[in-house]
Amino acid sequence: MRKLIHRPRRLRRSAALRDLVRETVLTPHDFILPLFVSEKRTSRQAITSMPGVEQLPPGDIAEEAARAEALGLRAVLLFGIPDEKDDRASGAYAENGVVQEAVRAIKACTPELVVITDVCLCEYMNHGHCGVVRRDGEHFHVLNDESVELLVETALSHAAAGADLVAPSDMMDGRIGAIREALDGAGFDQTGIISYAAKFASAFYGPFREAAESPPQFGDRRSYQMDPANAEEALRETALDVAEGADIVIVKPALAYLDIVWRVRARFGLTTAAYHVSGEYAMIKAAAAAGWLDERAAVLETMTGIKRAGADLIITYWARELAEWTRR
Ligand code: PBG
Repeated sequence: MRKLIHRPRRLRRSAALRDLVRETVLTPHDFILPLFVSEKRTSRQAITSMPGVEQLPPGDIAEEAARAEALGLRAVLLFGIPDEKDDRASGAYAENGVVQEAVRAIKACTPELVVITDVCLCEYMNHGHCGVVRRDGEHFHVLNDESVELLVETALSHAAAGADLVAPSDMMDGRIGAIREALDGAGFDQTGIISYAAKFASAFYGPFREAAESPPQFGDRRSYQMDPANAEEALRETALDVAEGADIVIVKPALAYLDIVWRVRARFGLTTAAYHVSGEYAMIKAAAAAGWLDERAAVLETMTGIKRAGADLIITYWARELAEWTRR
């Protein structure tokens, strides 16, 4: 009598068999590479808490983007660090701002590469918050609607420079609809919006704030970023962004939020990106540097997990290495 019909081990016997039945396969097209361009730099500057990641001088950005394209990546995500900060984030929407010029430089060299721009005010504000702040004594408020106006200006200036997708990461209410309407009104109906729909107030953004020189000078971001405890709220926030016109939605961070990735992908059926953030990068880098983890194996397993959870796209500081590791 045959007792056991299904024998999983039969299908794991050889590498070819394992390849044949693999459900989740990574490719270079899955990954988006974040790049930091700084108006203040004339040479590359390492970021201590993110080994392997650098702030680039404006003159190097086109070359770095071309390198990404040559590796097989399809998209880069630009963050800018301006020369000067103020309390209106003027650098964020300056016609010749650091990101606007970077987009033009990249598009002149590699017009096919998808250029995504982070739309936020924190790098451009002298207080480091993602919106316009009103302070009264000990307390401060982030003014939602005033902030949205500046975010709209920022998105328009990125679109005018040639960005393919703008990525609002500020988490103000109503910004996706306002940006969509302004883009359409200005003739940029082909510019897409990749929205940070579910962005949690996370401890894992720590190293990024060194990279982007954007730590809040007072208070924290919990009034506008989401509580890590709330999944239903994440779905409600995402539903709003989808209704307001988001083309792609982002869940951020990735690993502690894979349930959100799964539910967002299943519920909305929209292209869903997961952002494997700076702190998640730093953890593996530090452990690997100490000899406690095999970096490549840990990174591939992590990315496979994120994709298996439903992410169509993964924003990661390992995008370049992953393009090489996953090329076939
Ligand atoms: C800016 C922004 C942040 C990140 C992306 N865009 C920082 C923050 O919200 O404090 C974090 C990315 C990372 O940690 O890799 N609003």
